[in-house]
Amino acid sequence: MRSTFASLILSLVAVSSAYRLPFRRGSSHSTSFNFTNVNAADNRDIYVGTIYVGGQPYEVQLDTGSSDLWLDTEGVTLSGFTNTSVTGYIGYGDGTVATGPILVGSVDFGNFTVSKQAFISAPGSNATTSGDTGLLGVGPPALSNILTVLELENSSYSGASFIDNIFMTYPKEPNFITFQLSRDPELAVTSGGVFTIGEVGSGLKAVQKAPELKVVEVNNAIPYWTTPMDGMVVNGKNYSGHSVFNSSLVGSSQTLALLDTGNSLGSLPTYYANALYGSIPGANLTNGTWVVPCGGKVNVSFVFGGQTFPVHPLDVAYVAGTDDNGNAMCVGAFSGADVTTDSPNDVALGDSFLRNVYSLYDYGKWVTAGSTAPFIQLLSTTDPAKAWAEFDSLNTVRINAYLAIYGKGG
Ligand SMILES: *[C@@H]1O[C@H](CO)[C@@H](O)[C@H](O)[C@H]1NC(C)=O
Ligand SMILES: *[C@@H]1O[C@H](CO)[C@@H](O)[C@H](O)[C@H]1NC(C)=O
Ligand SMILES: *[C@@H]1O[C@H](CO)[C@@H](O)[C@H](O)[C@H]1NC(C)=O
Ligand SMILES: *[C@@H]1O[C@H](CO)[C@@H](O)[C@H](O)[C@H]1NC(C)=O
Ligand SMILES: *[C@@H]1O[C@H](CO)[C@@H](O)[C@H](O)[C@H]1NC(C)=O
Ligand SMILES: *[C@@H]1O[C@H](CO)[C@@H](O)[C@H](O)[C@H]1NC(C)=O
Ligand SMILES: *[C@@H]1O[C@H](CO)[C@@H](O)[C@H](O)[C@H]1NC(C)=O
Ligand SMILES: *[C@@H]1O[C@H](CO)[C@@H](O)[C@H](O)[C@H]1NC(C)=O
Ligand SMILES: *[C@@H]1O[C@H](CO)[C@@H](O)[C@H](O)[C@H]1NC(C)=O
Ligand SMILES: *[C@@H]1O[C@H](CO)[C@@H](O)[C@H](O)[C@H]1NC(C)=O
Repeated sequence: MRSTFASLILSLVAVSSAYRLPFRRGSSHSTSFNFTNVNAADNRDIYVGTIYVGGQPYEVQLDTGSSDLWLDTEGVTLSGFTNTSVTGYIGYGDGTVATGPILVGSVDFGNFTVSKQAFISAPGSNATTSGDTGLLGVGPPALSNILTVLELENSSYSGASFIDNIFMTYPKEPNFITFQLSRDPELAVTSGGVFTIGEVGSGLKAVQKAPELKVVEVNNAIPYWTTPMDGMVVNGKNYSGHSVFNSSLVGSSQTLALLDTGNSLGSLPTYYANALYGSIPGANLTNGTWVVPCGGKVNVSFVFGGQTFPVHPLDVAYVAGTDDNGNAMCVGAFSGADVTTDSPNDVALGDSFLRNVYSLYDYGKWVTAGSTAPFIQLLSTTDPAKAWAEFDSLNTVRINAYLAIYGKGG
């Protein structure tokens, strides 16, 4: 998600994902899309994929934390669209905005075509980056701003999200999506990956045998991909509890975690962040930010459904800048942030965690075509022993790659 409380701080520093999806051939409508990171270097990952709207290509970010499609239509001749005459508005935590008329038109994504898709035409939006021209939210359909405003205005046009429309248009399609984020061999952030709709990547079928993690909604009107997390293991020691939510949502030792591809980093209650970074010799909390020695190394796993998901030590901290002497400075990738019950989650896990798993999001009854409860399945893709062994050399490579791009003292 690029918006709301929990990732507000993160939004300022390191938001957003998106995907370039040169699509691949498939025998059915199930389609997988390769995507690439167009902004890997400074850790503000922007993964973009190509979507065609009225035949025109747009590079859109793919975000599990929001549910609207908006496009920067600056310089584009808009023809063949229906104008609902209703204005859509999406504001983000970093103060950027995508606003403009809600138009309805044909949208193609790989092999999928939705003929009447509502989207916000936001010419000149400052919520785009150099690498993208819009965003496709694949979160819970009910989170859609377009859906809400068209209903409020008693519009005759459907504000159904793109995902909802795909599963309605292609009823035989299983109602799930998956994400596999890869790790850049040099900079160690996500270099790209694969996004699929209705199919599981080859070699990754085991994800469908993984425990179904129930989705828990703090506020039914504002649903997210949130699920109880059992705890965190740091160098063999367990940490759990400290949720702001009570037993109506999570067990006494659990917290509520949001899985958000639109967040390049993550946040944890301070109890967890302090345990994690406090275990790294030389790390210190400066102005609310964990500054970590760049060679700092820790074994950390997050536990869901009784399964442990090890995090590669490369994903625990990132190169955030250089000091006065031109040496790399590293910062914790999971910031400490205590929330209130107004927040949709205690824990926000973005790409720094999601690079370590293959994740499946089943919408169930969240989409019009579905009837079952939504759930999430996770398959670990990180071998902790290998990750530990390769950290030192890969970390040296990424620091040198960073310094080569930003220069000493940059
Ligand atoms: C997508 O990535 C996979 C794995 O790297 C590769 O085998 C495939 O050829 C790629 N497809 C496209 C369309 O780039
Ligand atoms: C789209 O579907 C058709 C027929 O189902 C198939 O032949 C084609 O390869 C698919 N294309 C993509 C990009 O998936
Ligand atoms: C859509 O309608 C609104 C209000 O009626 C108008 O301001 C806007 O220029 C129209 N946009 C397009 C692209 O037709
Ligand atoms: C983005 O543009 C909106 C106006 O559309 C403006 O109010 C806002 O301050 C801008 N935000 C940033 C971060 O530039
Ligand atoms: C939408 O319809 C409701 C119920 O008829 C009405 O109360 C409301 O004022 C209408 N809203 C607009 C913006 O016309
Ligand atoms: C710590 O957590 C792991 C993973 O959930 C579990 O297997 C182990 O039994 C726990 N150890 C203790 C001492 O609670
Ligand atoms: C749990 O918290 C919610 C508000 O967050 C409150 O409405 C509810 O009564 C609480 N339930 C229990 C069992 O304490
Ligand atoms: C902490 O933040 C304050 C206020 O923004 C700033 O003046 C100070 O230099 C910061 N300290 C460090 C060590 O970065
Ligand atoms: C905090 O840690 C960083 C990295 O190890 C170090 O450069 C800095 O001097 C430390 N600051 C304090 C106040 O200890
Ligand atoms: C981290 O785990 C690896 C094996 O997975 C082990 O070799 C190493 O000693 C562990 N380090 C710590 C600090 O526990």
